[in-house]
Amino acid sequence: MRRQIQFLRRGAIVRLEDAPPTLTLLDYLRLDERAMGTKEGCAEGDCGACTVVLRRLAGERLAYTPVNACIVLAGQADGSEVITVDDLAGGQDGLHPVQQAMVDLHGSQCGFCTPGFVMALFALFHAPGRGALTRDTVNDWIAGNLCRCTGYRPIVDAAIAACGVAARDRFTDQEGDIARALAALDDGADLFSGTAERFFAAPASIEALGALYIQHPDAVLVAGATDVGLWVTKQMRDLRKIIWLGRVKGLDAIAATADGVTFGATATHAAAAPHLSAIDPDLGELLRRFASKQVRNMGTIGGNIANGSPIGDTPPALIALGATLILQRGGATRELPLEDFFVAYGRQQREAGEFVRAVRVPRLGSGEAFRCYKISKRFDQDISAVMGAFRLRLEGSRIAAARIAFGGMAATPKRARAAESALAGADLADPATAAAACEGLALDFAPMTDQRASAFYRMRVAKALLRKALIEIGGAATTTTRVVGRRETAHAATS
Ligand SMILES: Cc1cc2nc3c(=O)[nH]c(=O)nc-3n(C[C@H](O)[C@H](O)[C@H](O)COP(=O)(O)OP(=O)(O)OC[C@H]3O[C@@H](n4cnc5c(N)ncnc54)[C@H](O)[C@@H]3O)c2cc1C
Ligand code: FES
Ligand code: FES
Repeated sequence: MRRQIQFLRRGAIVRLEDAPPTLTLLDYLRLDERAMGTKEGCAEGDCGACTVVLRRLAGERLAYTPVNACIVLAGQADGSEVITVDDLAGGQDGLHPVQQAMVDLHGSQCGFCTPGFVMALFALFHAPGRGALTRDTVNDWIAGNLCRCTGYRPIVDAAIAACGVAARDRFTDQEGDIARALAALDDGADLFSGTAERFFAAPASIEALGALYIQHPDAVLVAGATDVGLWVTKQMRDLRKIIWLGRVKGLDAIAATADGVTFGATATHAAAAPHLSAIDPDLGELLRRFASKQVRNMGTIGGNIANGSPIGDTPPALIALGATLILQRGGATRELPLEDFFVAYGRQQREAGEFVRAVRVPRLGSGEAFRCYKISKRFDQDISAVMGAFRLRLEGSRIAAARIAFGGMAATPKRARAAESALAGADLADPATAAAACEGLALDFAPMTDQRASAFYRMRVAKALLRKALIEIGGAATTTTRVVGRRETAHAATS
């Protein structure tokens, strides 16, 4: 059992013992270390001003992962090297190439966002196999960084100038030493820092997690902290017991077979994206628009399900696909259809001491078609107002079976049973089919009005999405139904 959180910083090991369990990485950097280059803007993962890079072992190589330090807990850096904007320029090299490009191409005015952009681009500089950089790729990469005064054109120019060439800097030169230092930090021991009443724990195995959570069923499980982080920074909640799942060996495993893909609970959205894209390109497009690169790097499939949000993006899509949830308590596991997990607003089928172990997602069978659409006020980095997912099984033009699920239309992610019944056995080519299914939707849902959308808008848009799915599955090219995310030019699996 290890009692200290440990990570690498500027060539030395930082050891934190008895730090507050909810100490954020940003507060550690700015308040404890006084490394003031990293900025705080929104403190909720939205603006990217606090972007830092975690350098971690990923098999044989080192991964440079941009994250939002404002909502990452310091303990989540355990086993990583933390690189901040303060570390980039140095020695005889002067500015780092991405910093120099930002200067040369006028990528900064007031400068408040600049450290975050520089760190996002530093990670892009080190991204493996990124190939030729297009403006679209860069736009996806910096969707989580907000600039209010310079405008994005010169920043994208700087990204292409600095990151369009093979990466070589003093960080690449250090990689051998850093890989050895990180391997030495990876001790495989359970981490428990604090007391029985107030702790940050990070079990190293599923067995240790099961035992610890039964012992402390009142602890808060943290996977990526892209939801829990906001409980700390926005709700000022005093979370006394934290069990971080990020060191549990095997809990992030992704197993793909001919029939489906099983995602371990801590598989991140970034890691899951290529597998979901392979099931259907619309899932890849959904993930591209899920938050930002920084959030997808930390946020997990298990967290998106376990938080029980009615507007989470993956649950409706996974319910429409017929996914099964695997829950574990101690050593015992049970399975249930994902849709049955969501009982009511804020209430899920999860016992004390039970955690999400994995979700099993079937592939589409022959004659099956899938579509999903996210409707939000902003294209990037925004929560859905409505999210609709549709799976149909066709025999010729007859709809043999339908599974439809929506987010944003009820207190939980929910199936549209009446609309499904209206479609089952109907002829896809018959114009009356869509009308009947839309009437079904009006029976299925009584959506609410909130700051994202009115009840009237939600119902109108849900019906429009249903019609769009039927038109597309009926054979219309998505060049006639979509402005972006067309299936004919499916976006490459993004992470
Ligand atoms: C800027 C920003 C943008 C976002 N955009 C989107 C978006 O576009 N779409 C969207 O759907 N969401 C979005 N989110 C919300 C969030 O990113 C997702 O819900 C994410 O999947 C949560 O995963 P996590 O691992 O970070 O969960 P955490 O924050 O670690 O945990 C979330 C909840 O799940 C519980 N939990 C986590 N793992 C387990 C487990 N294995 N077993 C049991 N309980 C568990 C935690 O105790 C907590 O209650 C956004 C968040 C931010 C900050
Ligand atoms: S301060 Fe805005 S994302 Fe962290
Ligand atoms: S340079 Fe001012 S916010 Fe970007």
